[in-house]
Amino acid sequence: MNALTPAEVTRTAGSVLDEVQRAVVGKREQLVLVLAGILAGGHVLIEDLPGLGKTLAARSFAQTLGLRFTRAQFTPDLLPADLTGSFLYDQKTNEFAFRPGPVFTGLLLADEINRTPPKTQAALLEAMQERQVTVEGQTFPLEAPFHVLATANPVEYEGTYPLPEAQLDRFLIRVAFGYPTADQEWGVLSRRLDRRREEQVLDAVTDAAGLLGMQAAVETVTVEESVGRYCVALTSATRAHHQVLMGSSPRGALALMLMARAYAVISGRDYVVPEDVKSVAPAVLGHRVTIKPELWMAEVSGASVVQHVLTQVEAPGARERG
Ligand SMILES: Nc1ncnc2c1ncn2[C@@H]1O[C@H](COP(=O)(O)OP(=O)(O)OP(=O)(O)O)[C@@H](O)[C@H]1O
Ligand SMILES: [Mg+2]
Repeated sequence: MNALTPAEVTRTAGSVLDEVQRAVVGKREQLVLVLAGILAGGHVLIEDLPGLGKTLAARSFAQTLGLRFTRAQFTPDLLPADLTGSFLYDQKTNEFAFRPGPVFTGLLLADEINRTPPKTQAALLEAMQERQVTVEGQTFPLEAPFHVLATANPVEYEGTYPLPEAQLDRFLIRVAFGYPTADQEWGVLSRRLDRRREEQVLDAVTDAAGLLGMQAAVETVTVEESVGRYCVALTSATRAHHQVLMGSSPRGALALMLMARAYAVISGRDYVVPEDVKSVAPAVLGHRVTIKPELWMAEVSGASVVQHVLTQVEAPGARERG
């Protein structure tokens, strides 16, 4: 693994994003968050309606980051062993040999994870958390880098299994793509016409070793105590909020700081400013907040609580100036 400086990471991250945007039209802010999530060493949940480019974005990152890429479609009949792999009998050697499943990869696209029952979701989340899988009592480590980009559809169709909050917590961030503007949507169409074929093939800007080097460089980014305490204040404010049944755990505060650090490097700095924390807070904390059940029908969401908390908690720079 070659040591990189934060400035080199800034440059490479910019090239990765530009290359991804050869395929994905618009969505720059969301793509920056996804990349920051990966640079911070995390797993990313992309939650949005069908047809908004989630799968395209995941595939584009895999190609551009030069990672081994596998995809698992989370159907109702997907079994844990379909993800982890299983022991198969080899007739030549008369022995059972382990055949690794799609989690043995650099980047796993876990498509529509809310369509699969809890047992298979649990197998995925265990691999994400522990970076290893256990099959029939034998444990196999997953090589780094290993990142999951999962997609989920927010509409609660019949036959979907919403992830419990405790499991959502395993995702460093959750981002929504949202609809494109009319110009962006025409951009999707016109690029398709120019290409004269369906698929868009992207060039690799780095590779697995390069990504590990970028992640190591992000670890050198400084966070002042005032900024770290701002992360803590925002997180504990979600717990005290009057619309909230259960706020974010300290895991959320840690995630906030780690994401802000990666975001700072992508933005060209080797130190974190409160603005970085603000930029990543909705994606980091929104899915870690459970709203009181009596408010489920109202226009209250984890995202709206985080937005409110951001206006209430004073940022460190502002206090020093005042
Ligand atoms: N922002 C975008 N930029 C480029 N292409 C896009 C964009 N949004 C949608 N598309 C195109 O729309 C189609 C659907 O995209 P994709 O399969 O990635 O959607 P999805 O969000 O994964 O949908 P689903 O939830 O049904 O899996 C693809 O052909 C993709 O190229
Ligand atoms: Mg898809």
